[in-house]
Amino acid sequence: MPLVHPALLGLTTALPDVPGPAGLALPACAPGDAAAACGDSVTGDSATGDSATGPVGLAQLLAGGSLAADVLRDEGESLDLATLTELAGRLAATERLWRPIVRHDAAKRWYTRLLLTGVVEVWLIGWSPGQHTAVHDHGGALGALAVADGAVEEDVHAPHGGSWEPRATRRHAQGRVVGFGADHVHRVINRTAVVATTVHAYSPPEVPLRYANADGSVAVPAAAAAQLTTGLLAPTAQRRVAATAAR
Ligand SMILES: [Fe+2]
Repeated sequence: MPLVHPALLGLTTALPDVPGPAGLALPACAPGDAAAACGDSVTGDSATGDSATGPVGLAQLLAGGSLAADVLRDEGESLDLATLTELAGRLAATERLWRPIVRHDAAKRWYTRLLLTGVVEVWLIGWSPGQHTAVHDHGGALGALAVADGAVEEDVHAPHGGSWEPRATRRHAQGRVVGFGADHVHRVINRTAVVATTVHAYSPPEVPLRYANADGSVAVPAAAAAQLTTGLLAPTAQRRVAATAAR
C-alpha cells in the first residue's frame, strides 16, 4: 500500500511547523571537469506551472494519461525514465504542494519523503547554500531530479580504476527536470547564495545508495551488487533497512 505524505492528500494546512530529519552536511570539494560528456538524459524545463490556489491532492497531481496507474502500484515493473521525470516534474511545478512544507536549515540538509509505492519513491529536499550530498550512485535504480526553486549543480562522476572520478558539472535551475540511468554517479550541491528546493524520484524504491570510501575506492553493498549484476531486486524488507535520503 502506498505511503503518502499528508501534503499529497491535500492536508498541507494541517501540518505543524516542525523541521524534518537531518541530512548529510559534508565539506565542499572541487567540481568535476565540465568538458566531459555525460550519458544521462535531460528532459528540459518543466512546462506545467502552478497558477492554481488551495490544497492539491494526489489525484490532481497524477491526473491524465497512465501516470496514476503507473505510480500507485504495490508491485511490478519499475518505472521508466519518462515516467519518473514526468512525476518529479509535476510535483516540482506544483508550488502550492511543496512550499508549505519545505524547510531550509543552514545547519543540515532537510528532506522528507513525499511518496513511497511498490515501484517508486519521491523525496522533497531543501538545500541551504553550500549543502551537498556525498558522491554516490543509486544502487542500480533509475532516478529523476526536478528543481522546484533556486538552482543546484551536479558533479557527475564516472568509474575509473576502482574509484569514481569527476567528469562534469551540470547546473540545474528552477524548472529543470533531469533523468539519470542506473549507472549514474554524482553528488548534488547548492553552490548559490540562496536556498534551493528539489524533488527526487527513484525506481525501484528503497535501493541502497553506494558511497565512495574515504580513500576514494568504491564499496558495493551486497544487495546493490547483486542487483546490478543480475537486474533483480533484493526483497523490499531488506532494501527498506538500507534506504537513505542522502540523495
Ligand atoms: Fe543522487
